[in-house]
Amino acid sequence: MKVLVNESILDKEAVKIDFEDRGYQFGDGVYEVINIYNGVPFTFNEHIERLYRSAQEIGMSIPYSPEKLKENLMSLLDANNVIQGGLYLQITRGTAPRTHHYDEAIESKLIAYPLPHKDVLAPQTNGVTAITEEDLRWLRCDIKSLNLLYNIMSKQKAAKAGAFETILIREEIVTEGTSSNIFIVKDGMVKTHPANNKILNGITRMKLLQIVDQHAWEYQLEPFTKSELLEADEVFLTSTTSEIMPIIKVDDVVFHDGIPGPMTQKLQSAFREAVE
Ligand code: PDD
Repeated sequence: MKVLVNESILDKEAVKIDFEDRGYQFGDGVYEVINIYNGVPFTFNEHIERLYRSAQEIGMSIPYSPEKLKENLMSLLDANNVIQGGLYLQITRGTAPRTHHYDEAIESKLIAYPLPHKDVLAPQTNGVTAITEEDLRWLRCDIKSLNLLYNIMSKQKAAKAGAFETILIREEIVTEGTSSNIFIVKDGMVKTHPANNKILNGITRMKLLQIVDQHAWEYQLEPFTKSELLEADEVFLTSTTSEIMPIIKVDDVVFHDGIPGPMTQKLQSAFREAVE
């Protein structure tokens, strides 16, 4: 495997990570996951823009332009012959002797490499289950930070319960999943949490909302409660890796007799058209 390290493409075996890298010691960095369809990074500009925004929000500068980064990432995809699959990229603040505060002059470190294609056709067709959990994360969930401790703790609970995702609830309001955005459908109305500091504004979420808008289907960007979630007609999640994933059960509540609902299916086919 070839890996992009700052501006150089190296063999995986040649990549060295310093143990004083602040990403390793503090989770001091930001990241993106991008899907590749037919060799083309999907919603490439949106992901790169979000990466630069996340970096800016934590006061980290990226020492090259978004255009140069995209060029380097395309060379990486070429070097790995990626046709279908994903791309993981992270930028940490860089390496320095361990102190909480940092010297603004240290050089950030970018690592990017291809992720294998994940086949999600069966769960997308049959739907998945989810559990709920209190959202105890910090209040800058809009930053795609490497600090994912509470996300992984909550996802592990889902894994242990045999569920696909954990839906996070903050003061009765459904925020998002541990690595996805959550949508409900009630009486034909599509609803999801507004993009603010309490959720990551998912690129798939934004793409889906564009599709909903184009079809003039009804939607609301409004917070909704856990009770509304459990009383919904349909529930689904969105993320780069899952695309649009029907949720057929949350805790003990089954939706639409345990099969993906009609609106979710309509959105899935409209999304497929946008991708292909
Ligand atoms: N996760 N919310 C959170 C907390 C996420 O981590 C993600 C993505 C999303 C969906 O965002 P997008 O549609 O841009 O992928 C929402 C990625 C896939 C991950 O951590 O692997």
